[in-house]
Amino acid sequence: MKRLTVPAIQARKGKEPIVMLTAYTARMAQLLDPHCDMLLVGDSLGQVIYGLPSTLAVTLDMMCAHGAAVVRGSYHSVVIIDMPFGSYEASPEQAFASASRIMAETGAAGVKLEGGEAMAPTVAFLTQRGIPVVGHVGLTPQAVNMLGGYGARGRSNEEHAKIVGDARAVAEAGAFAVVAEGVIEPLARTIVGEVSCPVIGIGASADCDGQVLVTEDMLGMFERTPRFVKKFDDMAGRISAAVETYAKDVRSRAFPGVEQTYQPKP
Ligand code: KIV
Ligand code: NA
Repeated sequence: MKRLTVPAIQARKGKEPIVMLTAYTARMAQLLDPHCDMLLVGDSLGQVIYGLPSTLAVTLDMMCAHGAAVVRGSYHSVVIIDMPFGSYEASPEQAFASASRIMAETGAAGVKLEGGEAMAPTVAFLTQRGIPVVGHVGLTPQAVNMLGGYGARGRSNEEHAKIVGDARAVAEAGAFAVVAEGVIEPLARTIVGEVSCPVIGIGASADCDGQVLVTEDMLGMFERTPRFVKKFDDMAGRISAAVETYAKDVRSRAFPGVEQTYQPKP
């Protein structure tokens, strides 16, 4: 299967929905890849993999290591790597240095960065220099300390207008897709209508041009998840049950059995 391209994703606007999930490891990428159009190495790995309280302490080193693993584990999907907090906001030049390192070390197709109007010059700087960019507007977790939490955005008229402006700004600056996270549904629909690139929703609307979720969330790895997560499995429960059985079998010496042990040749 040939790998999809950024222009192929762009061309999906208003057509078949784009299927996107997060991946942080090679094996998970292998499992998701045949079913997805895009894989996101999200900085959500800070919480999901590293147990951090937010995405703020995620580093470029982490993103490069996990990004390279996901590219190695996939053949079909467009792989996008999140730019971590502190690696791009200071200037377009800083962003280019970080993004070019990500591209070189991982082999990914592009990067994603959070922010709207303020980041538009940076989006233009990167895209004009050969680095495809996905924007991210609405609930932007790297700004949690400014936003005051992870609640849905766009309930006031001012915030609604601001977020539409943010989406337009990054799209007009050259972003090939925009993630709209945690926005009230009418706002998500407005953004879809206002920007010319695909809008990928998470906690947004079924009318978006695609959907993304954190894979561990949709697999039911966590007890508590945001309202917008649909649990397609109960992996936490199934892992607990399997490990409980393993522990029982070890303690009763039922494991390893004959099938799992080596015997001398007769
Ligand atoms: O880090 C992440 O996983 C993300 C998605 C939830 C959009 O940014
Ligand atoms: Na992210």
